[in-house]
Amino acid sequence: MNIRCARPSDLMNMQHCNLLCLPENYQMKYYFYHGLSWPQLSYVAEDEKGHIVGYVLAKMEEDGEDNRHGHITSLAVKRSHRRLGLAQKLMNQASLAMVECFQAKYVSLHVRKSNRAALNLYTNSLGFKILEIEPKYYADGEDAYSMMRDLSAFAADTPEVTENSDVKSDNIVVLPTRE
Ligand SMILES: CC(C)(COP(=O)(O)OP(=O)(O)OC[C@H]1O[C@@H](n2cnc3c(N)ncnc32)[C@H](O)[C@@H]1OP(=O)(O)O)[C@@H](O)C(=O)NCCC(=O)NCCS
Repeated sequence: MNIRCARPSDLMNMQHCNLLCLPENYQMKYYFYHGLSWPQLSYVAEDEKGHIVGYVLAKMEEDGEDNRHGHITSLAVKRSHRRLGLAQKLMNQASLAMVECFQAKYVSLHVRKSNRAALNLYTNSLGFKILEIEPKYYADGEDAYSMMRDLSAFAADTPEVTENSDVKSDNIVVLPTRE
Protein backbone atom coordinates (compact mmCIF):
# COMPACT_ATOMS: atom_id res chain seq x y z
CA MET A 1 0.00 0.00 0.00
CA ASN A 2 1.27 3.46 -0.89
CA ILE A 3 0.44 6.83 0.57
CA ARG A 4 1.28 9.62 -1.83
CA CYS A 5 0.37 13.17 -2.72
CA ALA A 6 -2.86 13.32 -4.75
CA ARG A 7 -2.58 14.12 -8.46
CA PRO A 8 -5.25 15.81 -10.61
CA SER A 9 -6.00 12.39 -12.14
CA ASP A 10 -6.88 11.04 -8.65
CA LEU A 11 -9.59 13.57 -7.93
CA MET A 12 -12.46 11.62 -9.53
CA ASN A 13 -11.51 8.48 -7.61
CA MET A 14 -11.31 10.51 -4.40
CA GLN A 15 -14.83 11.74 -5.08
CA HIS A 16 -15.94 8.14 -5.66
CA CYS A 17 -14.41 7.05 -2.34
CA ASN A 18 -16.12 9.99 -0.64
CA LEU A 19 -19.50 8.98 -2.07
CA LEU A 20 -19.03 5.44 -0.72
CA CYS A 21 -18.01 6.53 2.77
CA LEU A 22 -19.65 9.82 3.78
CA PRO A 23 -22.94 11.74 3.53
CA GLU A 24 -21.02 14.99 3.00
CA ASN A 25 -20.40 15.04 -0.76
CA TYR A 26 -18.97 17.72 -3.01
CA GLN A 27 -19.12 18.68 -6.65
CA MET A 28 -16.08 17.86 -8.78
CA LYS A 29 -15.16 21.55 -8.96
CA TYR A 30 -14.59 21.59 -5.19
CA TYR A 31 -12.03 18.78 -5.55
CA PHE A 32 -10.33 20.70 -8.36
CA TYR A 33 -10.33 23.84 -6.23
CA HIS A 34 -8.37 21.97 -3.55
CA GLY A 35 -6.08 20.18 -6.01
CA LEU A 36 -5.22 23.30 -7.97
CA SER A 37 -4.94 25.71 -5.03
CA TRP A 38 -3.02 23.49 -2.59
CA PRO A 39 -1.56 20.58 -4.62
CA GLN A 40 0.81 19.71 -1.74
CA LEU A 41 -1.87 19.06 0.88
CA SER A 42 -4.16 16.26 -0.28
CA TYR A 43 -3.05 12.64 -0.10
CA VAL A 44 -4.32 9.27 -1.27
CA ALA A 45 -3.78 5.70 -0.11
CA GLU A 46 -3.62 3.23 -2.98
CA ASP A 47 -3.57 -0.56 -2.99
CA GLU A 48 -1.15 -2.81 -4.90
CA LYS A 49 -3.18 -2.32 -8.11
CA GLY A 50 -3.13 1.46 -7.81
CA HIS A 51 -6.77 1.70 -6.72
CA ILE A 52 -7.58 4.53 -4.34
CA VAL A 53 -8.68 3.09 -0.97
CA GLY A 54 -8.52 6.29 1.09
CA TYR A 55 -7.92 10.00 0.83
CA VAL A 56 -7.56 13.20 2.78
CA LEU A 57 -8.71 16.42 1.12
CA ALA A 58 -7.08 19.43 2.75
CA LYS A 59 -6.65 23.17 2.31
CA MET A 60 -5.23 26.27 3.94
CA GLU A 61 -7.45 28.88 5.57
CA GLU A 62 -6.56 32.43 4.59
CA ASP A 63 -6.88 34.07 8.02
CA GLY A 64 -3.83 36.34 7.91
CA GLU A 65 -0.14 35.85 8.68
CA ASP A 66 -0.56 35.30 12.43
CA ASN A 67 -3.26 32.70 12.15
CA ARG A 68 -1.98 30.45 9.40
CA HIS A 69 -3.73 27.15 9.62
CA GLY A 70 -4.76 24.21 7.57
CA HIS A 71 -8.20 22.63 7.41
CA ILE A 72 -9.24 19.05 6.73
CA THR A 73 -12.16 19.21 4.33
CA SER A 74 -12.72 15.46 4.09
CA LEU A 75 -11.16 12.17 5.14
CA ALA A 76 -12.26 8.62 4.34
CA VAL A 77 -10.89 5.10 4.06
CA LYS A 78 -12.84 2.33 2.30
CA ARG A 79 -14.36 -0.27 4.65
CA SER A 80 -12.14 -3.00 3.21
CA HIS A 81 -9.01 -1.14 4.32
CA ARG A 82 -9.90 0.25 7.74
CA ARG A 83 -7.97 -0.21 11.01
CA LEU A 84 -4.65 -0.45 9.17
CA GLY A 85 -3.43 2.96 10.24
CA LEU A 86 -4.15 4.57 6.86
CA ALA A 87 -6.25 7.47 8.14
CA GLN A 88 -3.66 8.28 10.77
CA LYS A 89 -0.91 8.31 8.16
CA LEU A 90 -2.94 10.36 5.66
CA MET A 91 -3.67 12.95 8.34
CA ASN A 92 -0.05 13.15 9.44
CA GLN A 93 1.20 13.56 5.88
CA ALA A 94 -1.27 16.36 5.14
CA SER A 95 -0.38 18.08 8.43
CA LEU A 96 3.34 17.82 7.78
CA ALA A 97 2.85 19.36 4.32
CA MET A 98 0.85 22.22 5.89
CA VAL A 99 3.81 22.95 8.16
CA GLU A 100 6.53 22.47 5.53
CA CYS A 101 4.86 24.29 2.66
CA PHE A 102 2.72 26.94 4.39
CA GLN A 103 4.12 27.28 7.94
CA ALA A 104 0.76 26.27 9.39
CA LYS A 105 0.45 26.72 13.15
CA TYR A 106 -2.47 24.34 13.56
CA VAL A 107 -4.99 22.28 11.63
CA SER A 108 -8.75 22.37 12.13
CA LEU A 109 -11.71 20.18 11.19
CA HIS A 110 -15.35 19.39 11.93
CA VAL A 111 -16.69 16.01 12.92
CA ARG A 112 -20.17 14.70 13.71
CA LYS A 113 -20.82 14.24 17.42
CA SER A 114 -21.92 10.65 16.69
CA ASN A 115 -18.82 9.66 14.66
CA ARG A 116 -17.09 7.54 17.28
CA ALA A 117 -14.44 6.11 14.94
CA ALA A 118 -13.34 9.51 13.70
CA LEU A 119 -13.48 11.04 17.19
CA ASN A 120 -11.23 8.28 18.53
CA LEU A 121 -8.85 8.79 15.64
CA TYR A 122 -8.66 12.55 16.15
CA THR A 123 -8.44 12.64 19.95
CA ASN A 124 -6.58 9.44 20.85
CA SER A 125 -4.29 8.93 17.86
CA LEU A 126 -3.72 12.44 16.53
CA GLY A 127 -3.98 14.77 19.54
CA PHE A 128 -6.84 16.98 18.37
CA LYS A 129 -8.72 19.01 21.00
CA ILE A 130 -12.39 19.98 20.94
CA LEU A 131 -12.75 23.77 20.57
CA GLU A 132 -16.53 24.07 20.59
CA ILE A 133 -19.80 22.49 19.53
CA GLU A 134 -21.36 23.95 16.39
CA PRO A 135 -25.11 23.28 16.69
CA LYS A 136 -26.85 21.86 13.59
CA TYR A 137 -23.68 22.17 11.52
CA TYR A 138 -24.66 19.31 9.22
CA ALA A 139 -27.48 19.35 6.68
CA ASP A 140 -29.47 16.73 8.62
CA GLY A 141 -29.33 18.84 11.79
CA GLU A 142 -26.58 16.97 13.65
CA ASP A 143 -24.14 19.01 15.75
CA ALA A 144 -20.43 19.14 14.96
CA TYR A 145 -17.40 19.27 17.16
CA SER A 146 -15.02 21.91 15.91
CA MET A 147 -11.54 20.52 16.60
CA MET A 148 -7.94 21.65 16.26
CA ARG A 149 -4.47 20.15 16.49
CA ASP A 150 -1.47 22.28 17.37
CA LEU A 151 1.25 21.75 14.76
CA SER A 152 3.95 23.96 16.28
CA ALA A 153 6.08 21.07 17.44
CA PHE A 154 4.74 18.69 14.83
CA ALA A 155 7.85 17.72 12.91
CA ALA A 156 9.97 17.30 16.03
CA ASP A 157 7.29 15.34 17.90
CA THR A 158 6.45 12.89 15.13
CA PRO A 159 9.72 11.55 13.76
CA GLU A 160 7.90 8.65 12.11
CA VAL A 161 6.33 11.13 9.71
CA THR A 162 9.56 12.73 8.59
CA GLU A 163 11.39 9.45 8.26
CA ASN A 164 8.83 8.03 5.83
CA SER A 165 8.52 4.87 7.86
CA ASP A 166 5.37 2.78 7.87
CA VAL A 167 2.56 2.81 10.45
CA LYS A 168 1.64 -0.67 11.47
CA SER A 169 3.14 -2.99 8.90
CA ASP A 170 5.76 -3.18 6.23
CA ASN A 171 2.98 -3.00 3.65
CA ILE A 172 2.42 0.77 3.83
CA VAL A 173 4.98 2.90 2.03
CA VAL A 174 4.86 6.68 2.25
CA LEU A 175 6.20 8.64 -0.69
CA PRO A 176 7.88 12.02 -0.09
CA THR A 177 5.92 15.26 0.20
CA ARG A 178 5.58 17.14 -3.10
CA GLU A 179 7.81 20.23 -3.23
C1 LIG B 1 -12.74 7.39 10.47
C2 LIG B 1 -11.91 6.64 9.43
C3 LIG B 1 -11.36 7.64 8.42
C4 LIG B 1 -10.75 5.92 10.13
O1 LIG B 1 -9.93 5.31 9.13
P1 LIG B 1 -8.92 4.10 9.45
O2 LIG B 1 -7.90 4.06 8.38
O3 LIG B 1 -9.69 2.87 9.73
O4 LIG B 1 -8.26 4.62 10.82
P2 LIG B 1 -6.87 4.14 11.43
O5 LIG B 1 -6.64 2.71 11.09
O6 LIG B 1 -5.81 5.12 11.07
O7 LIG B 1 -7.22 4.24 12.99
C5 LIG B 1 -6.38 4.90 13.92
C6 LIG B 1 -7.09 4.91 15.27
O8 LIG B 1 -8.36 5.57 15.17
C7 LIG B 1 -9.31 4.93 16.05
N1 LIG B 1 -10.36 4.26 15.29
C8 LIG B 1 -10.39 4.05 13.94
N2 LIG B 1 -11.53 3.39 13.60
C9 LIG B 1 -12.20 3.16 14.75
C10 LIG B 1 -13.44 2.51 15.05
N3 LIG B 1 -14.21 1.96 14.10
N4 LIG B 1 -13.84 2.47 16.35
C11 LIG B 1 -13.11 3.02 17.33
N5 LIG B 1 -11.90 3.63 17.10
C12 LIG B 1 -11.47 3.71 15.83
C13 LIG B 1 -8.52 3.91 16.83
O9 LIG B 1 -7.99 4.56 17.96
C14 LIG B 1 -7.41 3.57 15.83
O10 LIG B 1 -6.27 3.02 16.44
P3 LIG B 1 -6.20 1.41 16.68
O11 LIG B 1 -6.57 0.75 15.39
O12 LIG B 1 -4.76 1.21 17.08
O13 LIG B 1 -7.18 1.13 17.77
C15 LIG B 1 -12.77 5.54 8.70
O14 LIG B 1 -13.46 4.78 9.68
C16 LIG B 1 -13.78 6.12 7.72
O15 LIG B 1 -13.46 6.35 6.55
N6 LIG B 1 -15.01 6.36 8.20
C17 LIG B 1 -16.07 6.92 7.34
C18 LIG B 1 -15.73 8.34 6.91
C19 LIG B 1 -15.51 9.26 8.10
O16 LIG B 1 -16.15 9.15 9.14
N7 LIG B 1 -14.57 10.23 7.92
C20 LIG B 1 -14.27 11.22 8.92
C21 LIG B 1 -15.21 12.35 8.77
S1 LIG B 1 -14.84 13.65 9.93
